[in-house]
Amino acid sequence: MKYWKKLAAKDLDERISLALGENIDYKQKISLGLPASRLDPKVFHDDAAFLKDTPLLRCYVQNPNHIGCHTFGNSESYFRGTQEIERETIELLSVDLLKAEENSCDGYIAAGGTEANIQAAWIYRNYFIENHNAQNNEIALLASTDTHYSVAKAANLLGMQWYAVPVADDTRTIITAELNRVINHAREEGIKYFIVIANMGSTIFGSIDDPDLYARYLEQNGVVFRIHADGAFGGFIYPISNRESNVHFGNPNISSITLDAHKMLQAPYGTGIFMIRKGYMQYVLTKEAQYVSGMDITLSGSRSGTNAVAVWMILQTYGPYGWLEKINKLLYRTAWCCDELDKAGIKYYRDPHMNIIAISAKHIPPEHAIKYGLVPDTHDNSPSWYKIVVMDHVEMEHLDVFISSLRETREEAVTG
Ligand SMILES: Cc1ncc(COP(=O)(O)O)c(C=O)c1O
Repeated sequence: MKYWKKLAAKDLDERISLALGENIDYKQKISLGLPASRLDPKVFHDDAAFLKDTPLLRCYVQNPNHIGCHTFGNSESYFRGTQEIERETIELLSVDLLKAEENSCDGYIAAGGTEANIQAAWIYRNYFIENHNAQNNEIALLASTDTHYSVAKAANLLGMQWYAVPVADDTRTIITAELNRVINHAREEGIKYFIVIANMGSTIFGSIDDPDLYARYLEQNGVVFRIHADGAFGGFIYPISNRESNVHFGNPNISSITLDAHKMLQAPYGTGIFMIRKGYMQYVLTKEAQYVSGMDITLSGSRSGTNAVAVWMILQTYGPYGWLEKINKLLYRTAWCCDELDKAGIKYYRDPHMNIIAISAKHIPPEHAIKYGLVPDTHDNSPSWYKIVVMDHVEMEHLDVFISSLRETREEAVTG
């Protein structure tokens, strides 16, 4: 690991205090033009005793605005201390988690996975238009039917079509013949440029798409494409749990990746993460953003710098080994639950490196799903699957109670 280290609470505090010291102090420095200030001191007291030992809350109170992207070009100088922590976080994740070369990626902390996926589609659309002279209606999104609906949002916002590739019902893998058929169909409809969104943990199944499969078929068809990996759910687990993974920046087929710290990392909401190889961010430069010092090249404008600090703190509190242990605990619980489902003859899908179990709805009475908080693949009346996501709060005792009661219901059904 080049950057990812476990730090003691004292060291975290020191580093964050230093960063806050480099940000603007509205009490000390006259700053007449910024439409920003610290949190309202009548409501959020900045002299509360507990703030002394909680650097993250001190950061909230100081309220840094991380508008822009801080791995590329200039940034607002007022928040340079905490911007540096965001830069470090992007570098740590791209290099130590996702196998990028040092200083080869740009990125920022986005509102969430949705924004990060849309940012990717926006960049590639503009890239194809500027670099290949493409027309908007010649560019399309390509993603499996298991893909998160943020891809549908991106298609709608950017005025592009989404071509959905069917997956096999039992393995959730892309059906290669269908991939070929969908690419051909899109080409017949005039599509020459493809923006692929590959799942690194689909929302309902936790299934993983092979980016190299997409690349192979698109290359065979002689079309231009870029591949973005959506690791909003799986990005903090799969690259670690599967050493054979090809979904990372070490794979030249991958150009950008979404992570979501507010899922597996249990960070505050507002901590999606967008990362992309250098050389692309400028395609979404908004030239009209002239009052902002630095470049506006992110979908969201103002955003909380404290979110970046929170992500950095979580990563450095665990360190790589602490995080590995945590993931393994969750995978152990998931495997245990799958064993019990096997014994009970209940059909489910699970990628062995992921902590999501999608159980066939045939085996789950709807009242059971409600009682145990399972999430269906659709909220209409006929779900096909219900998922369990083994997060930190999902303990073996909970899984045990769920499976025992499922067994009882099935025995009752058999004995009448
Ligand atoms: C695979 C995947 N991508 C994207 C998203 C969207 O993330 P967010 O809700 O943070 O915008 C989700 C959310 O569940 C997801 O599972």
